[in-house]
Amino acid sequence: MDEKILDYLKRKKDYVSGDHLSQRLGISRQALWRHIQSLKDSGYEIVAVPHIGYKLISSPDRIFASEIASRLNTKSIGRKIYYYDSVSSTMDTALKLGIEGACEGTVVLAESQVKGRGRLGRIWVSHKYKGIYLSLILRPKILPNETAILTLLSAVSICEAIKEKAGLEAKIKWPNDILLHNHKLGGILTELQAEMDEVHFVVIGIGLNVNNDKKSLPDNATSLKEHKKENINRVELLQEILRRLEANYFLFQKKKAAAIIEKWDEHNITLGRRIRVSLHKRHIEGEALDLDIDGGLLVRGDHGLVEKVMAGDVVYCR
Ligand code: BTN
Repeated sequence: MDEKILDYLKRKKDYVSGDHLSQRLGISRQALWRHIQSLKDSGYEIVAVPHIGYKLISSPDRIFASEIASRLNTKSIGRKIYYYDSVSSTMDTALKLGIEGACEGTVVLAESQVKGRGRLGRIWVSHKYKGIYLSLILRPKILPNETAILTLLSAVSICEAIKEKAGLEAKIKWPNDILLHNHKLGGILTELQAEMDEVHFVVIGIGLNVNNDKKSLPDNATSLKEHKKENINRVELLQEILRRLEANYFLFQKKKAAAIIEKWDEHNITLGRRIRVSLHKRHIEGEALDLDIDGGLLVRGDHGLVEKVMAGDVVYCR
């Protein structure tokens, strides 16, 4: 009900009489008053003028599920959203939900994480109310060795959403880094529950520095705020990320990986570079030649041999 009241007040942008609201929503004036109080407790600034009605003045800077769901207009991604003020890691929550059978498109959002994690056992610093920390459950009908493309698809979606909502050209460093002026803006962590020949579900974790102050971030990191010199509306950006994720996921289902790789290329800053990739027990140094159709990186090592890497830590040599 809170969501319906909010939606109404947002659309009206002016005073709405209590009688009108309670009639439209089919609730008593007392019930309406209680809902308005609960919205105020959540940080919505709503004024009530006797004999005139209620008016929404401002919304809190929170990525509440109701805010994200409102006018999201997606078919599956974000149809079910779990929101937390704080969690250990949205990955753990999503993995648990996935095992319990959560449907494709389920999204877990948190305002902060106590144990946010990145690739290769790294920590993902998750400042409260500053960034976007989300995990998305997908159930694609692909083989486990075909899931790397989902990381690329997510990276493309994030860059597209940033361009749309902040007007900035973020870039992708293979496989999972989102960079802005060569500083880390965001990252993607893809985890799966699978058997050899069947993916049960995939969890895509996205961490993005949005309104973080430069001084609170590691030296090699940046935020959108640092470049825009103003706060970015996290609700709008998050909604756009979900819309782009869905559009690109549908594109992948229809036109396969090639369509995603073509888009990835527009944002890539890895191909053509001299790189060093650290693998499990060795490293390769050479030129990042191309992406293979499964999202693997083709590297021509200094010995002349071309090798494909599916994951690893990439460092630019020059
Ligand atoms: C990386 O760059 O290594 C990937 C970082 C992924 C961070 C996100 S934040 C939301 C989700 N929950 C986590 O614990 N990690 C991912």
